[in-house]
Amino acid sequence: MAEIPGNVFPRKLNRPLPLATGAEGLWILDGEGHRYMDASGGPLVVNVGHCREEVAQAIYQQALRCDYVHPTMFTTPPVEELARELAARAPRGLDRFYFLSGGGEAVEAAIKLARQIHLENGRAQRVRLISRWKSYHGLTLGALAATGRTTFRTPFVPFLADAVHIPPPYCLRCSYGLAYPGCNLRCALALEETIQNLGPDTVSAFLAETVSGATIAAVPPP
Ligand SMILES: Cc1ncc(COP(=O)(O)O)c(C=O)c1O
Repeated sequence: MAEIPGNVFPRKLNRPLPLATGAEGLWILDGEGHRYMDASGGPLVVNVGHCREEVAQAIYQQALRCDYVHPTMFTTPPVEELARELAARAPRGLDRFYFLSGGGEAVEAAIKLARQIHLENGRAQRVRLISRWKSYHGLTLGALAATGRTTFRTPFVPFLADAVHIPPPYCLRCSYGLAYPGCNLRCALALEETIQNLGPDTVSAFLAETVSGATIAAVPPP
């Protein structure tokens, strides 16, 4: 680490990272004449491209108009407008949106929300969380409990809340040694089986990526 210049605790310890001095659309620039193609939009969060003028202007104008209010005290026109736009495009019945700063935080809020709903409905015994091996839900402790990527979670198991992991829909390396479609979606049946084994009245939530992303990048069979 001593060979890595600067005072930032680096994400990679084996080599200095390139210094990104600019970005434009698909490209990240390092000021030394190199251009890096950002084909994934970072972790899929810059999908509209880097440094879009209208995005920067909207952030700037809003920061001048009203920079921050606490969400327990106020709502704002952009928040209301975004929620309205999302509701217009979301599946029927999904018409409320809770804005947070990132994925791990959203996952933890979802786990807590499920629990709160059960408590409000007098189902205090519903505490179990089911997720899948290989899934990625974030690295904060609550999200890491649900995450099924063993390299990330194993060192911290003593700190993690209880979560039950079931096999992923990962046809390339099927946990059951089966092949689609002859498998009759054995991995989907695992959810039903696990709910029954735990006791349906004890289950609070099932958390899953619709498409397995960061760990196996696999689209599940239909
Ligand atoms: C499906 C999924 N959930 C949660 C996260 C965690 O998000 P964050 O890194 O913003 O905490 C990610 C990040 O890649 C993700 O792909």
